[in-house]
Amino acid sequence: MMGGYVPLSQLGAVLLRMVLKVWAYSGLVLVVCFLLYYMYGGIFAISLLIFAVTGILYQVQDNLLYSPELPSHSRVYIPIPSMFGLPFESINHKCPDGTTIHMYFIHQPKERQRLAPTLVFFHGNAGNMGHRLQNCAGLYHNLHCNILLIEYRGYGLSEGHPSEEGLYIDAKASLDYLFSRNDVNHSEIVVFGRSLGGAVAIDLAIRENYSNRIWCLVVENTFTSIPDMARVLLGWKILQYFPIFFYKNKYLSYQKVKQIRIPTLFISGLSDSLVPPKMMQELYERCNSIRKQLFQLPAGTHNETWQLPGYYHAIALFLQNCRISALMRQASIDMDTKSDSGYSSLWNGVQDI
Ligand SMILES: *[C@@H]1O[C@H](CO)[C@@H](O)[C@H](O)[C@H]1NC(C)=O
Ligand SMILES: *[C@@H]1O[C@H](CO)[C@@H](O)[C@H](O)[C@H]1NC(C)=O
Ligand SMILES: *[C@@H]1O[C@H](CO)[C@@H](O)[C@H](O)[C@H]1NC(C)=O
Repeated sequence: MMGGYVPLSQLGAVLLRMVLKVWAYSGLVLVVCFLLYYMYGGIFAISLLIFAVTGILYQVQDNLLYSPELPSHSRVYIPIPSMFGLPFESINHKCPDGTTIHMYFIHQPKERQRLAPTLVFFHGNAGNMGHRLQNCAGLYHNLHCNILLIEYRGYGLSEGHPSEEGLYIDAKASLDYLFSRNDVNHSEIVVFGRSLGGAVAIDLAIRENYSNRIWCLVVENTFTSIPDMARVLLGWKILQYFPIFFYKNKYLSYQKVKQIRIPTLFISGLSDSLVPPKMMQELYERCNSIRKQLFQLPAGTHNETWQLPGYYHAIALFLQNCRISALMRQASIDMDTKSDSGYSSLWNGVQDI
C-alpha cells in the first residue's frame, strides 16, 4: 500500500510542477497575446475604422465640394444676361468626352467685339453661372470686354457630373470653343477664376497648348489645395497624416502656380472667412511669373469682394499694364534689332516696373 502511495505522491508532485510550469508559460503566452493585442490589435481596429470612415469620406467628398443644387432650383432656373441688359448668345458645347456644357457668350456691340479683350469666367462651387451675372455686368462695363461664362458639367443646364478631371476638360473645351470663333481677338484672352474656379483657371494656365493662348490670368479668393482646405474646414489634426491619394479632389494649385509664366493678378479679400487669405498670399509668393500682382481688399469677404470700390479699377489697371509692357517689349525687340544692346538692357529694366 505504501509502495502505491509514494509513486502517487511523486506523480502529484510532477503534475504540480507541470501545472506550475504551464501556468507560468501559459501566463507568459497570455501576457504576450494581451500585449500584442494591446499594441497591434488596437492599431488593427483603428485601421479598420479609418478604412471604413475614409471609404465613406472618399465617396462623400464630391457632395462636400460641389454644390450645384444650392440655392434650390439651381439646376433648372438660370438667370439670363438680358436681365442685366447684356447682349449674349447661349451656347451648348460638346466637350471631347461627349459631355455637353452650357455657356453664355456675352459680347460687346458688334463693332467693338473684335477689338475688346475676352474674359473666360470660371465660377465657384455653388449655384450656376447665372448667379454671377451681376459681377459679369460690372466686368463688362468697366473692362469693356466680352465674357465667356462657363457652367461646369453637372451645374445648371450642363450635362454630366462634376469631378476634378471633368472641370479641367470643361475649361480646355471652353478655350477651344473661343478659338474656333473668328469674331474675337485671340491675342487678348483673360482667364478669370474665383474660389474653386481659381483652381480650374490655374490648371488651364499651365496646360500644354493652352497656356500659350492665354494673355493674362486673374484669380480671386482661391485656395492652395483641397487637402489644405479640408484641414482648415474640418480642423482634424489627423487629416495631415492622410496620404494625398485619399483625396478624390485635389486641385493642387500650390504646386501648379510655380509653373505659371503668364501675367497673373491675385485678388484677395482679407475678410474672407472661408478661404484663409494667407493661402492667396502663399499662391502669390510661389507664382513664378515675372509679372504678378497681389491686390488685397481689407473688407473683401469670400463671395462679395467684387462688390467693393476699387475692384474693377484694379483689374483694368492690371490689364492696361500688361498691354503697355507687351508694347514696350515689342519696342525693345525692335530696338534690339536696330541698335546696340545698351539700349535694350535699359528697356528691359523699364518693362519690369
Ligand atoms: C488683338 O490684340 C493684339 C494684342 O493686344 C493687338 O495687337 C491687335 O491689334 C488686336 N486685334 C484687333 C483686331 O484689335
Ligand atoms: C500640342 O500641340 C501639338 C501640335 O499641334 C501636338 O503635337 C501635341 O500633341 C499637343 N499636346 C497636347 C498635350 O495636346
Ligand atoms: C458663398 O456663397 C455660397 C453660395 O453662393 C454659399 O454656399 C457660401 O456659404 C457663401 N460663403 C460665404 C463665406 O459667405
